[in-house]
Amino acid sequence: MTLGLSPHAYRDSKMLDAEIETLFQREWLCIGRETDFAEPGSYVTCRIAAQPVVVWRGSDGQLRAFENVCRHRMSIIASDCGVADQLQCPFHGWTYGWDGSLKGAPGGRDIVASGEVLLPQFSIETWMGFVFVNLDPQAQPLAPRLTRVTDMIAPYAPEEFKTSFRDDGGRVGANWKLMMEIGLESYHFPFVHESTLAANLRGAPNPPSGTGAWTVSVEPRTKTLAAQPDDPAALSEAHRATTYTFGIFPATVFNIDVDNIVWFSVFPDRADLTSSCFGGASRHAGSMRILGDNKPSSVDEYLTWAAQLGAEDNLACERVQQALQGKFVKAGPLLPEKENGVIEFHAYLRERLNLK
Ligand code: FES
Ligand SMILES: [Fe+2]
Repeated sequence: MTLGLSPHAYRDSKMLDAEIETLFQREWLCIGRETDFAEPGSYVTCRIAAQPVVVWRGSDGQLRAFENVCRHRMSIIASDCGVADQLQCPFHGWTYGWDGSLKGAPGGRDIVASGEVLLPQFSIETWMGFVFVNLDPQAQPLAPRLTRVTDMIAPYAPEEFKTSFRDDGGRVGANWKLMMEIGLESYHFPFVHESTLAANLRGAPNPPSGTGAWTVSVEPRTKTLAAQPDDPAALSEAHRATTYTFGIFPATVFNIDVDNIVWFSVFPDRADLTSSCFGGASRHAGSMRILGDNKPSSVDEYLTWAAQLGAEDNLACERVQQALQGKFVKAGPLLPEKENGVIEFHAYLRERLNLK
């Protein structure tokens, strides 16, 4: 029998410290899509395990990831997202250019002129239209770990999808791994998503990826989608009969369907508190597709549905987190045919974190 991780893995702050050091400070984490940065000056902020980060498209068109912390007295500089030629710290008004250099400091002309004040940069990589950041300056490239995923999703031409939405997912009172796990299996759909999802998709046994870097869940639609005039040539009947959910370890999940993609990433704040960000992109502007649905929806309709789906998942995760506080709680068996994504995620964690 394959057992889940021990309760302590979800509630212990020392465990979280190890995860931050080993995973969140060393692994590639998706923070958005390239088309979220639609024009020069577009920026998005996030916190990767408490580290403030801003990803910013320069006027040279390049995306760069910076420490979003002022080099004066360490205030957070940018908030949320937006478009700006320069980023200004809200504390004493120092300003930074898109190359990270200090451009202005009220009363501090010599400091600016020294050219010595720069925002530190993090590693950044784009893959199939996604933007990944890695806090480790020695990070190995991401794409070679994902060659089979690249082959599987290339027929959809996801790089051509345009952003429909991107937002912060707020905070959930559950360990970050619970939020990954619920994204990696459909076993819970008939119970947690009875009215939102269960009618559109049928669970199926999923083959292990065996890579230790990602996992995939194949979900047959209850109704095959008809071919559309602008389908890419490589998109087959099999693609129109299926949606795929990929977990890119450690902290990103995305669904891909014929004409759109939806993703989320999770970032731990505490062992029992998790932040997230999420987004969607589509081949057809102004249109999204509710998972497995045959008819397209407006972005507003989609977001209303997604808010309900997210609330259902969050409640399920919070129920587990509450139960995990109990003294007598023990991990139970997992079903390989139904929960392969969770099993592969746990195998990755056990290997990286040296867990039993
Ligand atoms: S902390 Fe940013 S200007 Fe002082
Ligand atoms: Fe769910």
